[in-house]
Amino acid sequence: MSNFNIGLLGFSGRVGSALIGPLLEAHRDGKINLIILHRVTSDLSKIPFEVAVEKRVVELIEAGMEGLINAVEVLDVLISTISGPGFTSQKYLVDALASSKRLKTFIPSDFGVSWTEEESSNPVLPFIKLKTQVVHRALELGIPVTNVRLPLFDELVLGYGKLGMDVKKNKVEVYRNSLINPLRITTLPYLAYALTQLIQSPSLIANRTITLYDHSPTGKEIIDVLTKIHGYPTEVTEYTEERYEADLGEMRAAIGAAAWKRWGDGVWGEEEKVEVDGWHGESFEELVRKYI
Ligand SMILES: NC(=O)c1ccc[n+]([C@@H]2O[C@H](COP(=O)([O-])OP(=O)(O)OC[C@H]3O[C@@H](n4cnc5c(N)ncnc54)[C@H](OP(=O)(O)O)[C@@H]3O)[C@@H](O)[C@H]2O)c1
Repeated sequence: MSNFNIGLLGFSGRVGSALIGPLLEAHRDGKINLIILHRVTSDLSKIPFEVAVEKRVVELIEAGMEGLINAVEVLDVLISTISGPGFTSQKYLVDALASSKRLKTFIPSDFGVSWTEEESSNPVLPFIKLKTQVVHRALELGIPVTNVRLPLFDELVLGYGKLGMDVKKNKVEVYRNSLINPLRITTLPYLAYALTQLIQSPSLIANRTITLYDHSPTGKEIIDVLTKIHGYPTEVTEYTEERYEADLGEMRAAIGAAAWKRWGDGVWGEEEKVEVDGWHGESFEELVRKYI
């Protein structure tokens, strides 16, 4: 058994449940020793397949600090994929990690874009500051951090029509230079594969802000794929500046507007794209066909 200890907190969530499969495989193959951190109420039946793996109950509250310190002191890497009120609770996690002599890197729950100052000040996007506070506290305490940035998941763009794309009805919207700029899209299997590889060499990712995405079609390429799949021209309309401004007033729409801005302007932030060996994903056309 490996003594390279990887902690995962948030295994049952949207992102965590994608990560846990490849992490369990790496554990089964003796590459890592996975330790699942969970709260007492977490549904352990959501662990996808049975491998002997250690599970530790943690409470991200003041009264849970002693247990938390014990739970994390053996970890080489900790990945947190918690959400909602859990963002703030990561303060306790960070405080517990501060006394670790072993930790190589902490991956806080981020998995979003590099937000601008202006976006961070938007009152409909309060979670940005909550996430940032956790990272600032970790850095103050001298904890090595890997910020994992993601653009948008494929299911949001192709399944739920974020960014005005209706792949079933063969419709797309365009904004500023989105026809010629690449849209960054991350699939959950890629994220899980890439992160499982990367955490095995933590010194390469510690104290870095990285981004992971496996598709980057331009608007024109998206239209070409949809036109080919449907056999008739894709309907193209414009996401207007007026809609962009209006969308900044509501949380989900503002997240979409932020993605539009990055795609339309081709400016994503300072995160570094990390290449991961051995990934055999599908083509963008194959990905789109899954949503038709
Ligand atoms: N870029 C994108 O397109 C995108 C899209 C979605 C999410 N994200 C980001 O990805 C991250 C994860 O989001 P998600 O959608 O996967 O979250 P989610 O589905 O809501 O899952 C949250 C997980 O956190 C655990 N959790 C919550 N509060 C906790 C606490 N206080 N103590 C311990 N565990 C706690 C939950 O465990 P239980 O089983 O105990 O409930 C669950 O496993 C977030 O940072 C989110 O902003 C990015």
